[in-house]
Amino acid sequence: MTYSVAVSGASGYAGGEILRILAAHPDVEIRTVTAHSNAGQKLIEHQPHLRSLAHLTLQETTPEVLSGHDIVFLALPHGQSGQYTDALADTPLVIDAGADHRLESTTEWEKFYGGDHHHPWTYGVPELLVGGGTQRELLRGATRIAAPGCNASTVSLSLAPGVSAGVIDPSDIVTVLAVGPSGAGKSLKPHLLGSEILGTANPYAVGGGHRHIPEIRQALAAAMSETAVPIRISFTPVIVPMARGILATSTAPIAAGATDDDIRAAWERAYGDETFVQLLPAGHFPRTADVLGANTALMGLAIDRDANRVVVVTAVDNLVKGTAGAAVQSMNIALGLPEGRALTVNGVAP
Ligand SMILES: NC(=O)c1ccc[n+]([C@@H]2O[C@H](COP(=O)([O-])OP(=O)(O)OC[C@H]3O[C@@H](n4cnc5c(N)ncnc54)[C@H](OP(=O)(O)O)[C@@H]3O)[C@@H](O)[C@H]2O)c1
Repeated sequence: MTYSVAVSGASGYAGGEILRILAAHPDVEIRTVTAHSNAGQKLIEHQPHLRSLAHLTLQETTPEVLSGHDIVFLALPHGQSGQYTDALADTPLVIDAGADHRLESTTEWEKFYGGDHHHPWTYGVPELLVGGGTQRELLRGATRIAAPGCNASTVSLSLAPGVSAGVIDPSDIVTVLAVGPSGAGKSLKPHLLGSEILGTANPYAVGGGHRHIPEIRQALAAAMSETAVPIRISFTPVIVPMARGILATSTAPIAAGATDDDIRAAWERAYGDETFVQLLPAGHFPRTADVLGANTALMGLAIDRDANRVVVVTAVDNLVKGTAGAAVQSMNIALGLPEGRALTVNGVAP
């Protein structure tokens, strides 16, 4: 069977990356691409790297244009997706790259985003530990999927094995992330001009204001066996001059009594059989260059006994494993296709 697909936000970074991956997917036909201010123009004018899709023209993003497909991807600014989801009630599978359907808590939505809180959808990070299993089981047969925030899934994947096994203390998590500016999208923003970010590292959303914090808390809470322990996260992203990529350094105190073997075994158990989340051998740590273009989260683990903390360094391509790759991997699972179809573990380096 060939599934017909519409991709909204197709002139943007997330939409463009969804299209790049789907262009190599043998089970889908990309029938419709939509945008907003650039509707009416050829896709290739905005995504000149997508040569095989040169025949497509960007249409207006309306419920009428998006409906009638087997699968719709929404890759719109947050707050925009919710208005389409009711109108797409007859669409068999809808996958949202935005935040609108990620959070279960109305309170957290109002605090970090504001505006209408929409119904939460199945979270699109298959390898995340949930209860005694993984998010993958929940994605099988799903019809509505919320792809993750790129920073959120990077930190959640980094720490879920430790909180699930009870070998780290989730009440004192500290994470600092080097992030590329593509994570903020393609629309013009003065603080993301080349002259503002080249040759400098720029922290932002310092002090607990970043919108991915509640998403991490939600994912880690789902991974924990002991629900009474509070989850507290100090989260500091720093924009660095690389177009794409996240390098997240996440630390948490070692739980009382946890041995070095217990700690490493928690991550090995969680990811030993995974293709797209890989733990490096002891003493090795990833670079963002190792995962660019890949659907891979690459992780290094250290146990700092002097500081009494576990340190996890994870590299992810924000546009692949952080968004579009996660969306397509989740789509494959939902449809019962081979999970890795059209996705690669290999990065592009140097
Ligand atoms: N960038 C990432 O690494 C990343 C990672 C995870 C999740 N996401 C999420 O993916 C979504 C898209 O992000 P992005 O980085 O791709 O942003 P982007 O590059 O700014 O692209 C936004 C897209 O949405 C369209 N658009 C803007 N306003 C619209 C409206 N009112 N109605 C319909 N379409 C509208 C734009 O069309 P025009 O160009 O024609 O105006 C463009 O195609 C966001 O919710 C973001 O949080 C992004």
